[in-house]
Amino acid sequence: RTVRLEEYTPFPWIVGDVSLTFRLHPTATRVLSRITFANDPAAPSGPFFLHGEKLNLIEARIDGVPVSPDITAEGLTCDVPDTPFVFEAEVEIDPSGNTALDGLYMSGGMYCTQCEAEGFRKITFYPDRPDVMAPFNVRIEGPEDKPLPVMLSNGNPGAQEGNSAEWHDPWPKPSYLFALVAGDLVAKSGTFTTASGMPVALNVYVRPGDEDRCDYALDALIRSMRWDEREYGREYDLSVFSIVAVDDFNMGAMENKGLNIFNSKYVLASPDTATDVDFEMIEGIVAHEYFHNWTGNRVTCRDWFQLCLKEGLTVFRDQQFSGDMRSEPVKRIDDVLALRARQFREDNGPLAHPVRPESYIEINNFYTATVYEKGAEVIGMLRRLVGAEAYRAALDLYFERHDGQACTIEDWLAVFEDATGRDLSQFKLWYSQAGTPRVEVSEDWDEEAGRLALTFRQHTPPTPGQPDKAPLVIPVALGLLDAAGHEIMATEVVELTEAEQTVEIGLGTGGADLEAKASRVPGRPVPSILRGFSAPVILQRQTSAEERAFLLAHDTDPFNKWEAGRALARDVLVRMVTDGAEPGQQYLSALQMVAKDDTLDPAFRALALSLPSQDDLAQAIHDGGATPDPTAIWAALRRLAEEIGGTLEPVLSELYDEMRVPGPYTPDAQSAGSRALRGAALAYLSRVDGGSRAAAQFAEAGNMTERLGALGALLRIGKGEEELAAFRRRWEGDRLVMDKWFALQAASASPAEAHDVAQRLTGDPAFDWTNPNRFRSVIGALAGNPAAFHEPEGRIYRLVTDWLIRLDPLNPQTAARLTTSFETWKRFDADRQGMIRENLERLSAVEGLSRDTSEMVGRILA
Ligand code: ARG
Ligand code: ZN
Repeated sequence: RTVRLEEYTPFPWIVGDVSLTFRLHPTATRVLSRITFANDPAAPSGPFFLHGEKLNLIEARIDGVPVSPDITAEGLTCDVPDTPFVFEAEVEIDPSGNTALDGLYMSGGMYCTQCEAEGFRKITFYPDRPDVMAPFNVRIEGPEDKPLPVMLSNGNPGAQEGNSAEWHDPWPKPSYLFALVAGDLVAKSGTFTTASGMPVALNVYVRPGDEDRCDYALDALIRSMRWDEREYGREYDLSVFSIVAVDDFNMGAMENKGLNIFNSKYVLASPDTATDVDFEMIEGIVAHEYFHNWTGNRVTCRDWFQLCLKEGLTVFRDQQFSGDMRSEPVKRIDDVLALRARQFREDNGPLAHPVRPESYIEINNFYTATVYEKGAEVIGMLRRLVGAEAYRAALDLYFERHDGQACTIEDWLAVFEDATGRDLSQFKLWYSQAGTPRVEVSEDWDEEAGRLALTFRQHTPPTPGQPDKAPLVIPVALGLLDAAGHEIMATEVVELTEAEQTVEIGLGTGGADLEAKASRVPGRPVPSILRGFSAPVILQRQTSAEERAFLLAHDTDPFNKWEAGRALARDVLVRMVTDGAEPGQQYLSALQMVAKDDTLDPAFRALALSLPSQDDLAQAIHDGGATPDPTAIWAALRRLAEEIGGTLEPVLSELYDEMRVPGPYTPDAQSAGSRALRGAALAYLSRVDGGSRAAAQFAEAGNMTERLGALGALLRIGKGEEELAAFRRRWEGDRLVMDKWFALQAASASPAEAHDVAQRLTGDPAFDWTNPNRFRSVIGALAGNPAAFHEPEGRIYRLVTDWLIRLDPLNPQTAARLTTSFETWKRFDADRQGMIRENLERLSAVEGLSRDTSEMVGRILA
């Protein structure tokens, strides 16, 4: 069944309060509910329907009198009085049989929950929709034979005695924010005092043995709490805040009120087991979930179409936070890389959908890069358009006006219109129009008048269900350099609103749209366009390699400086793939200049040294009207890496020594940046030194970043067999580290090795495919390695499909998510398309295929 935005109707009743008692048992947990309902005079009336799935109803009562409701696979209907009433139910559920990891389930002997988006209906009968908000009281009773040391739910603790625990959450919340955790857990604890002096007990709960890996998450939490007070004026609102790490989890983490539940991968970290990137991810995700307390929980969504209201905003907030904690420009480049890799890919294929979708079959399929990352870009554009101060004022108004409410994008935009007096009707198209806009720029330089005219033409290609697109409001941040590389105009933001628009920049001449300083050197000035990636668009501009090299050397905007180098590399690689061209000196010398420039942040230099991905190149070649050959792309990247290793050997080897970080490991941004640059140097050097440096680094490494970096460098040159075995012996008992062992091999397999590697990894006794992290680290990593995934015989397509078929009946969410591996299939040659189609059709024909996976396959094939 398709759910549509336009069909929204409010729930006819108001839920007064909710009391739940859980009698925990691994296979037969009893859930007793007591819920008060009163007619909502503001809502149209309708039948009394409560969601409920896979629940065994033991008894239901209304005002104490047993009733026999009608029950279907989706829920319950029942006759109810016109006056306020109490609904009670007792249901039985089977947490240990819940392999979908949605609702109440068990992970490594502990009870835990995941309720977003629609998991609560697998716990008890309830109006499981985000616009129904109520305070919850929860009582948890442990199994009689086996008391559980820790039993948690949302809110503040109540009576905790013997084998039971009570929790009261005073803040009205939707059911998707409900959480329960019970098991043998230990806490790493801390305290936080809010700006207004309220003490908060902080806990990071983990399995015994993991206590020494919680410090970083706890520290990130404290920094997030302080930051949200300082930057958004948002304080925490309960006496306790807990994070729980769970090994079996379908996603990253979940912002349940006062009780965030995390994939253990995004909590546990020690220098020996986690990389710099892991630390950074933990910091960002801890912040993200904490920030949801205001953007998501206190102000929530009216319905799931409004998901970007909380996710786009919360991603934007976590990006700001990480930018503040680390290097802002480096964070921006990382975010744009991720946006292009995941969101542009989605937006340019069969799964394209608006930031606010208008229909869905399974909502879990819409926790996408578009809703999250493009949703965050839209907020960033809004902030750029209105300015930082007006943005803050609008946010203050948003919290003041909508605290305790379930809101829409209309509410969100109205706040900005009211706070700034701006008309946002055209801007609103960003929420409804799918697809990545193309912005073409052409230039006209009038030497005599001292004027540069830039003409912008925007158009958005059709996407499924949206053949025609209207022009959007696009903020374009612009700067200007003179021919000698001096900045003669600092960044200005131009607003495009029409299909075609010309902006004139005068060089000290007056009367133009924008004014630059008169240049003292003769010659055409060079514009730096879309600084900071000021809008999520594809900029199309005919630019020579000379101009790109010039911007790479001189642009004062770090994003565009990096972007110029990236475009240079992309052009070189595309020519290598399509015309068999040689890399050429120009790129190599430009790269060498940046690598050597010690006025630049090492983290930035590491990014400048990294090459476009295989997927970027396939997209670029496809955009250029040719058919990308995944094997040729892989070979060109290898060839260029060898060339860089050879030509830049002296510089890289100097960097490799210079960037060594002395002393004990610390995860701070600066040390991480040095290690990243050193790691980039090592990867290139290994192409030409036979792996001697990498082997030595592996043997001596005192932290996971350097150990894994060395191992990766070895695997990519076809070496490292001994090191792989040693790594495994050392870390066999550590799930998260073994995930890396699997993922690294899957991600670095060459086209020729792919089949053997895939066979070996999936046949490994440690390939516990029912664990989502392990499944993703093998199947996800293979599918995410284009050279391997597209190996010419189609064996990996078949293998991935076989595994999706196997996983789907157990865990539809994770299976459906991984079908996106096929979303780019229309880019490739007829042979590959034929093989992919065959596999997708085979998947879609599986009897009893989940709603999740069938929706995805249907859309990809359409
Ligand atoms: N709200 C969570 C977060 O962004 C993610 C929940 C994902 N849920 C899902 N069904 N995919 O932090
Ligand atoms: Zn979120």
